[in-house]
Amino acid sequence: MLPEVMDAMLPWLSGNHSNPSGTYRAAKFARKAIDEARGHVAALIGSDEGEIVFTGTGTESVNTALRSLDELTGEGSAIVSAIEHSAVLRFVENSRRSVSRIPVSTNGRIDLNAFRASCGNAAYVSVMLANNETGMIQPLAEVISIAREHSLPVHCDAIQAVGKIFLDVRREAVDLLSISAHKLHGPKGIGALYVRSGLDFSPMMHGGGQEGGRRSGTENVASIVAMGEAARLAKIALENDAGDRIRHMRDSFERLVMEGVSGCVRNGDPAFRLPNTSHLSFESCDSAGLLILLDEAGVACSAGSACMSGKQKPSHVQLAMGIPEERAKTSLRFSFSHLNTPEEATCAAEKTIRAVEKLRRVQGTGIGPVAIYHG
Ligand SMILES: Cc1ncc(COP(=O)(O)O)c(C=O)c1O
Repeated sequence: MLPEVMDAMLPWLSGNHSNPSGTYRAAKFARKAIDEARGHVAALIGSDEGEIVFTGTGTESVNTALRSLDELTGEGSAIVSAIEHSAVLRFVENSRRSVSRIPVSTNGRIDLNAFRASCGNAAYVSVMLANNETGMIQPLAEVISIAREHSLPVHCDAIQAVGKIFLDVRREAVDLLSISAHKLHGPKGIGALYVRSGLDFSPMMHGGGQEGGRRSGTENVASIVAMGEAARLAKIALENDAGDRIRHMRDSFERLVMEGVSGCVRNGDPAFRLPNTSHLSFESCDSAGLLILLDEAGVACSAGSACMSGKQKPSHVQLAMGIPEERAKTSLRFSFSHLNTPEEATCAAEKTIRAVEKLRRVQGTGIGPVAIYHG
């Protein structure tokens, strides 16, 4: 969390405890703070304030959107890309519908011909804007235009992209779009769902009718205010070219690592990536071992998405891109933010090079993983 976000949040935890639905003065103050936060989130994605619904997490936003589509659309399959986050994949797998999983090319982007071919038998579409493991940005405008030809509503999981790249929901003409605050320097446990004005919508949470009846439950004022502040600051950072500075840092990190390590491969198409993400494979280096060494050295990165870490299976995202299982087990995701410095990027690159050298040395001896710490 950004310090400014924490500063905006704390008074709502320690001072004003009012229920924003109350009629007393302090409650109205809380209501006003929620409305302001809604305005900031709306401004970040180019929507109207009334189209933003606060939720408990990004996962809740995704599930709410898909559940509404599932309930309100007629017969037909749910179309998703093969590289969606588990929030999308597990939902559709558990729904009553058949699921069309659209393949991606080796560059990690959805195959538009396969997508078009599936639209004839479909009821709705859910496609992510940027992948959480590889950072690959998907051709959302093309997806939506094809979906429109078939009158299919579209949900976009934009959780990994919002705040990192410019986004205008009006221009994209998307119907539903999910956001999560912790991806833009806000707190964990708060999300938002964009619901296009005029779209039929069926709420998941029924109760007191908060959020215009679209998500009942007393509002988490402190987290909503923090998400609003995070969105406001993310918009300013984007307008001040923070994305370019992050890209520069990421690229110099990548260059150093790829020059310093033999058999290092960058996954995905560099032309269509989030500016902050680097997804690299290190030939004959088990990613679990590398993670241990890098953690020891103070570099926090992940194999697969953070949500998947701890599982030893190669990620479905890499397999969908046609990356062989053996190579997929050697991949790491590094991500940067505008809180990182170029010096940290250089230092992380040097530590990565040393970690790969060390792991290869140890693996070569056949002594096994215990030697990693001492070798
Ligand atoms: C693409 C994507 N979708 C959904 C989620 C889930 O969001 P949350 O952790 O806020 O529930 C994540 C979180 O990492 C994500 O990266």
